[in-house]
Amino acid sequence: MLVCVVGAGGREHALASVLGRTADVVVTPGNPGIANSTDASPEEIDADLYVIGPEAPLVDGLADRLRSDGKLVFGPGADGAMLEGSKAWMKGLLAEAGVPTADFGTFVERGDALAFLDTLEPPYVVKTDGLAAGKGVLVTESKQEAQAAVDRYLSGEAFGEAGRRLVIEEGLVGPEVSLLAVCDGTNAVALAPAQDFKRIDDGDEGRNTGGMGAYSPVPVAGQDLVDDIVHNCVLPTLSTLRDRGIDYRGVLYAGLMLTPSGPKMLEYNVRFGDPEAQVVLPRLTSDLAELLAEAAAGELKSQPEFSSKAHVTVVCASENYPGSPRIGDVIKGIEDARELEGVEVFCAGVAENDEGDLVTAGGRVLSVCASGDSILEARSRAYEAVSKVSWPGMQYRSDIAAHTAGG
Ligand code: AMP
Ligand code: GLY
Repeated sequence: MLVCVVGAGGREHALASVLGRTADVVVTPGNPGIANSTDASPEEIDADLYVIGPEAPLVDGLADRLRSDGKLVFGPGADGAMLEGSKAWMKGLLAEAGVPTADFGTFVERGDALAFLDTLEPPYVVKTDGLAAGKGVLVTESKQEAQAAVDRYLSGEAFGEAGRRLVIEEGLVGPEVSLLAVCDGTNAVALAPAQDFKRIDDGDEGRNTGGMGAYSPVPVAGQDLVDDIVHNCVLPTLSTLRDRGIDYRGVLYAGLMLTPSGPKMLEYNVRFGDPEAQVVLPRLTSDLAELLAEAAAGELKSQPEFSSKAHVTVVCASENYPGSPRIGDVIKGIEDARELEGVEVFCAGVAENDEGDLVTAGGRVLSVCASGDSILEARSRAYEAVSKVSWPGMQYRSDIAAHTAGG
């Protein structure tokens, strides 16, 4: 089977690596750190299965275009991708499906938004309605900061069109868990849970990013919780989508907060998480290509199986990320890191210079991953590997998986 992976990041590198265990793989556009990357567009590649990584081409209807050409595609159409493309639409669907979530309001008028903020207790949560590369969410204890965000979002100053409509939510507290479910339109199977670290700085401080690290398994997310989320969130969501005429074949990424009153849905994404994919997929001991092909065909049969090994990934990012990153620096040490036991390095924001060296080309540059018999062992291997890698201004969090290290 030839699988075409669409995308250019660490998630796509991990997808290509795990799909490559049982299938031939090409990646478009990929990047110079991913084998079999090609400039050919997905439409120009004749593959048996297409796996679309990022949200933007899904929201843009790539899966629909490929399906109308008779291709087998893992990834929702533009209609299902609205779950991620519009937070207001997603919140409406959650309410209809009866999925527990934070109270919220949707606003295009400043006065209405500020009046709603006045009814809430801290923490205050202000989100762009549209896509903002994981950076459009502000969670703050300061009402003043939340009010200022309302102005910057609605004016288009902060996130352009994506912020001209916004969602304000009740602030929830508790540990977070990411559960990726593989869906065939009707049925779903859960992959192993992961936890990611969205803030840029240690101690969950600073701005939201696409994700600075992750680990799997998650000690607080056992099989009962996974079953609860599949039955009370994922399946009702698929059924409500079907009621709206939407045949959702792809990943439903459930981002939940485990609150004292039970799990609540923070967000749905319509794709594998990045960097969650880098810790979940390598743990699979069953055939990923077969699983995704079944889901794409609307006939899930196999059950994913996972190794008991723990995986931890630390994201190495460019100076100034999540702002406009410094780029063009030569990356050193990737091969030294890969020589360590249990270590894999997935490439994201990288390019090649005239001398053939890999250089930084984006915010999140590398996803340095390690496995081990415990989270503690995987974590210490991951950080040893990170210490081998360098470029000027490289930044990473030093506390990924620290609080579960005994698990
Ligand atoms: P989202 O993109 O909607 O998942 O938001 C990104 C991050 O912001 C989440 O992973 C949470 O850490 C935080 N967040 C989002 N919504 C809430 C909320 N209602 N209460 C507290 N934190 C939130
Ligand atoms: N790691 C968060 C995301 O992929 O949205």
